[in-house]
Amino acid sequence: MKKLFAVLILAVLPAVSFANTLEPELEKVEIDVADKVALQDGARTFANYCMGCHSAKYQRYERVANDLDIPVDLMQSHLIFTGAKIGDHMSIGMQPADAKAWFGAAPPDLTLVARVRGTDWLYSYLKSFYEDPARPWGVNNKVFPNVGMPNVLVGLQGRQVVGCKQVQIVEDGKKQYDPLTGTPLTHEACDQLTIVPKSGALTEEQFDEKVKNLVTFLAYSANPVKLQHQRIGTYVLLYLAFFFVFAYLLKREYWKDVH
Ligand code: HEC
Repeated sequence: MKKLFAVLILAVLPAVSFANTLEPELEKVEIDVADKVALQDGARTFANYCMGCHSAKYQRYERVANDLDIPVDLMQSHLIFTGAKIGDHMSIGMQPADAKAWFGAAPPDLTLVARVRGTDWLYSYLKSFYEDPARPWGVNNKVFPNVGMPNVLVGLQGRQVVGCKQVQIVEDGKKQYDPLTGTPLTHEACDQLTIVPKSGALTEEQFDEKVKNLVTFLAYSANPVKLQHQRIGTYVLLYLAFFFVFAYLLKREYWKDVH
C-alpha cells in the first residue's frame, strides 16, 4: 500500500511542477517606500481609480496624510470623496453583497494586499489587462485569468490587446544581441500583450511609472511602520558608532595598567 502511495506521489509530482511553469512570468519592480513623491502620486491614483470599489479600511486618511507629507486640507479636498472625516478609516460605501452580484466577486480590501500578493504580482497584474470580448467587461487578465475586475486604468494605459510582436531572444536567461552590430536579436512571438498606439492618455513609460507609484502606495499601506523602522534603524546605528568611540577609550584606559 505504502509503495503504491509513493508511486502515486511520484506520478503526480511532475504534473505539479509542470503546472508551476505555466504560471505567467511576473515583471520585477523595484519599490522604494521612502519615495514621498511616488507615494503621493500612488495615493492619488488609489483614491481616484480604486476606492470606488476597494476600501483600505485598516488605514486612516490622517495617518496617510501625515506619513506622506500631504497637507490635511489638500488631503480633504483631493483625496477624500466619500464625505469621510480626516480621522476616519478609508472605507467605502459599496456593499460586498451588491458587489458580488455586479462583478461575480466582491472587491477585497486592499490595505494588506501587497503582503499577500507581493509587489511584483501587483505591478504585473495592473499592467496585464487585455481586451477579451468573451468576458462580461470585455477584458481579461494574464496574471489573474477571468478576473471579475474591469480594466479601470484603460483610459491611462490605452487598449491592450493580445497579438504578435517582435521580442528579444533570450537564451539561458540572457538577452541576445547581434555580436557585430550590438542590436538586439528578435523573433516574432504571438500571444504577446501590445498597446494600440495613442489609445491611452499616457505613454507606456509614463503608465509604468503610474502603476509603480500605485504599487509603492500599496506596499506602504501594507506596512506603514516600515518608514519609521528605517529612520529608527539609522539612529540606532549612529548611536552604536558614537558609543564605540567611548567604549574603545574606556578599554584603553582599563588596559593601560595591565601592560
Ligand atoms: C469597478 C470596481 C473596481 C475598481 C474601480 C477596481 N477594482 Fe480591483 N477588483 C474588483 C473586483 C470585483 C475584484 C475581484 C475580482 C475577482 O476575484 O475575480 C478586484 C480584485 C482586485 C485585486 C486582486 C485582489 C486579490 O488578491 O485577489 C487587486 C490587487 C485589485 N483589484 C486592485 C485594484 C486597484 C489597484 C484598483 C485601482 C487602480 C482597482 N482594483 C480598482 C473591482 C474593482
